[in-house]
Amino acid sequence: MNAPKTPKPPLNRTVSVAPMMGWTDRHDRYFLRLISPNALLYTVMITTGALIYGKKFSVLEYNPEEHPVALQLGGSDPKELAECARIAEQYNYDEVNLNCGCPSDRVQKGKFGACLMAEPALVADCIDAMQQATTLPVTVKTRIGIDNQDSYEFLLDFVGKIADKGCKTFIIHARKALLNGLSPAENRTVPPLNYERAYQLKRDFPHLNIILNGGLQTVETVQGALAQCDGVMIGREAYTNPWFMAQLEETVFGNTAAKTRHQIIEELMPYIDRSLAEGVPLKDITRHILGLYQGLPGARRWRQILSSEAYKPAANSNTVRLALAQVPES
Ligand SMILES: Cc1cc2nc3c(=O)[nH]c(=O)nc-3n(C[C@H](O)[C@H](O)[C@H](O)COP(=O)(O)O)c2cc1C
Repeated sequence: MNAPKTPKPPLNRTVSVAPMMGWTDRHDRYFLRLISPNALLYTVMITTGALIYGKKFSVLEYNPEEHPVALQLGGSDPKELAECARIAEQYNYDEVNLNCGCPSDRVQKGKFGACLMAEPALVADCIDAMQQATTLPVTVKTRIGIDNQDSYEFLLDFVGKIADKGCKTFIIHARKALLNGLSPAENRTVPPLNYERAYQLKRDFPHLNIILNGGLQTVETVQGALAQCDGVMIGREAYTNPWFMAQLEETVFGNTAAKTRHQIIEELMPYIDRSLAEGVPLKDITRHILGLYQGLPGARRWRQILSSEAYKPAANSNTVRLALAQVPES
């Protein structure tokens, strides 16, 4: 556990990497931090039950290098969420975020995630309780609607009721969620994106931080979004093509100290050695770096070697060096 520090400087929310279950674990976040010193990183959603009744340390563990890092919570009980917000502060996270966007059946059964959009008063109570429990910023990640409740007025009312409790930052995944009949993956592609809804929110609530999420895959779309709202959250592109985060470092933050992909991997090596010594299998780290050379010569060999050799019991950082030798320096 990291010692709590106060007060924390305000977070730069211009670019963040989305919470992605099964993807953005601590190894992925460590790797992404090497590429992007400026992005705000999010944990995957952790349920209040897992935190309160489960093995706290294993789900909350992260590397100090990951800062700034936000903890995303899934839950709908104000008392439990308040307790988890307190735990987040004890573990020195930089922000606590409430998931109001996940449409999976499991999450709906637990009465949290996207179905909470139908209960703005409850969400407002949750946020209020969390804010009372921590000095950390408490934020909300939401869709623009659910099922037939998809008018702008519905979104305006949802955000307005929560903002009335003092919540200042809303991450808007700019498509609605269909709670029946679509899988979570389909719910990230089928309902159409509507960025204008997020931009309209920013115009109606100029004092709020409105962060746009959904389908942002090019520097141009990111720059277009940043002209109309306060920040962007990148999901799948940051995972499948992590070099996109380096492009954003340069174009959004003017970070000209950008490193090469090879340098990033060299910097990852001590982390790999350390993690292996702690008993982490190599594949748990290398599965996150497969997309690094996307579109470049040798990318296929890179992926092949890491996907096969890294799964062998004797795999170690030399396996990564072997893969690295297959791709020209870039
Ligand atoms: C594999 C995967 C897991 C996800 N897990 C979460 C999650 O735990 N919490 C959450 O709020 N959103 C989750 N999402 C949704 C993303 O955070 C994001 O809102 C969505 O992918 C849209 O952004 P994108 O088009 O940039 O990918 C997940 C997405 C993917 C692809």
